[in-house]
Amino acid sequence: MTMENIESVLQESRVFPPPADFAKTAHINSMDDYRALHRRSLDDPFGFWGEVASELEWFKPWREVLDESEKPFFKWFSGGKLNICHNAVDRHARGSMANKAAIVWEGEPGDERVLTYRDLHREVQRFANVLKSLGVGKGDSVALYLPMIPELAIAVLACARIGAVHSVIFAGFSADSVRDRVQDASSKIVITGDGGWRRGKVLELKSIVDEGVADCPSVEHVLVVRRDPFTEGFPCSMQEGRDVWYHERAKTVSPHCPCEEMDAEDLLFLLYTSGSTGKPKGIMHTVGGYSVHTYLTAKYIFDLRPKDVYWCTADVGWITGHSYIVYGPLQNGATVVMYEGAPNAPDPGRFWELIDKHRVTIFYTAPTAIRAFMKWGDEWVEKADLSTLRLLGSVGEPINPEAWMWYHEKIGKGRCPIVDTWWQTETGGILLSPLPGVTPTKPGSATLPFFGVDAAILDAEGNETPSGLLAIRRPWPGILRGIWGDPERFKQTYWCNWEGRYYFPGDGARRDDDGYFWVVGRVDDVVNVSGHRIGTAELESVFVEHPQVAESAVIGVPHEIKGQGLVAFVLLRGTDSTGSDTLRSELNDLVSKRIGKFAKPEKIIFSADLPKTRSGKIMRRLLRDIATGQSLGNVTTLADPSVIESLKTKYTD
Ligand code: WT7
Repeated sequence: MTMENIESVLQESRVFPPPADFAKTAHINSMDDYRALHRRSLDDPFGFWGEVASELEWFKPWREVLDESEKPFFKWFSGGKLNICHNAVDRHARGSMANKAAIVWEGEPGDERVLTYRDLHREVQRFANVLKSLGVGKGDSVALYLPMIPELAIAVLACARIGAVHSVIFAGFSADSVRDRVQDASSKIVITGDGGWRRGKVLELKSIVDEGVADCPSVEHVLVVRRDPFTEGFPCSMQEGRDVWYHERAKTVSPHCPCEEMDAEDLLFLLYTSGSTGKPKGIMHTVGGYSVHTYLTAKYIFDLRPKDVYWCTADVGWITGHSYIVYGPLQNGATVVMYEGAPNAPDPGRFWELIDKHRVTIFYTAPTAIRAFMKWGDEWVEKADLSTLRLLGSVGEPINPEAWMWYHEKIGKGRCPIVDTWWQTETGGILLSPLPGVTPTKPGSATLPFFGVDAAILDAEGNETPSGLLAIRRPWPGILRGIWGDPERFKQTYWCNWEGRYYFPGDGARRDDDGYFWVVGRVDDVVNVSGHRIGTAELESVFVEHPQVAESAVIGVPHEIKGQGLVAFVLLRGTDSTGSDTLRSELNDLVSKRIGKFAKPEKIIFSADLPKTRSGKIMRRLLRDIATGQSLGNVTTLADPSVIESLKTKYTD
């Protein structure tokens, strides 16, 4: 966790009550209602979640709302049959909302596509039949490596429709990362594109996939989508027999494809995320609980109304995109804006122009983006009107109060509530957040638990404490169901504290006198860079692949824009302790190749030694102290205290 954040949130005392105008029309608009409903959701979870689930359509009702008999492998809505695609698309496409815009898409070059719910219904069915024609059926794993184009959402929904398990891989990952994920999930098909625009450059996704799947025997086909269905697109080399153009196959399939009746506990998707070992974990989410959780959180936290235009700036490649671009808002029948490109392409005014142009009412973004805009200067914001906005959201990392205030004043013009939403890939949906019509907000706090969430701050023994480890004391519908292929790791990672009684998210937090939660950051070896998780062990194992590297230690340090950045201390083989810029760039290239460009460290420090205990354990705490210029804590356990001085000098050089 970053000291800067702790410092700034400790001093924060400003409180912003929900604007009266907003509260007047909000779904939930009094603290008493929130408290009563929260109480009920804990006292009578079966009644509460059963009623919520009834707002969705089920092919067959569930027998039991929650089955805890195999804790921590919980089952929600056992016996129930449903399909999330039916609730997100079909039920809107058949009634009065058929002609309402479901997806308003804009490409980085400024091209636009709008799909109504009826259009989306048609496109998803077509896509589903293309998948079926390639032999994909219920339970098969499908990897997606696509730019932010409508087909990414369409393909995700098509998988859900036929019961295939989607595994979306963010298009910034390298070929090696694609390979690891495709192999781990034994994906049968990889869906990719001929290209996508990012900061004026074309992402060559197909060639990355070609390299990645060369070593993946499970892959039968690579399905290639044209970014622009109306042109010839970008050239791609196609492998005879394996590779299939989507637009060609789509012409040959039937336009009708019914939804598969899924069991509530059938697997919906895998999404890989970093943990504290070198190997990313395939987080498992199932259909029923995830549907209910994303539906309700989107409805209440974003206060979705029929006329809203909702824009979440995340990529569908991350959990935020799964839950709050695709499934949550679409299950609520919302109009969702989807943007392909970078926030500063062609200039830093792009987001604000998009808000004005598409008349966005709800805007959900990340603190790292907000800090980048602050740095780019207010003039870009001042050119825009932004009067359509009524609600702002933040996600991905703790938002520092300075960024919160800027967001509140410059974007929200003091008139829009801000929902700072805390959650994780593993939680499926939001767990801590203000309700925008109810909760007085404090800059930097995710405030209070959502319905059904029993959150607490505990010490190692499980006693409540004002500052300690965040714990969730009972299951919620969207909770992960496991780590793909590794039930032991699932138990060890999330159920390792408090004798396995409570879920441990890996975050440290404190609670103030009003019961508000202030999440300060990870307490494990996971670093949050621009809202993306990177395991320090993952990077360390990349470095030691280099023949000149003997050992390395990677830590997270505060970073002005990214929240946290990575610093690598690298111990070389032999007598060389100075390294070189060539070696530095070789190591950077290795990180780009193994993980992706976004994981490159801010600094690589070559050293003759690392601070270790006498038993040989690297003392990362001391490395963090060096990097943040803190006075060093206890160094008496160090095998060789002189190491510290030389590292300090190297760090500041
Ligand atoms: C980790 C989860 C949830 C979608 C994006 C990231 C941190 C996330 C907040 C917030 C403080 C936050 C936590 C969490 N985090 N949102 N509002 N306040 N911290 O998903 O990659 O699974 O990362 O991001 O440390 O554990 P993720």
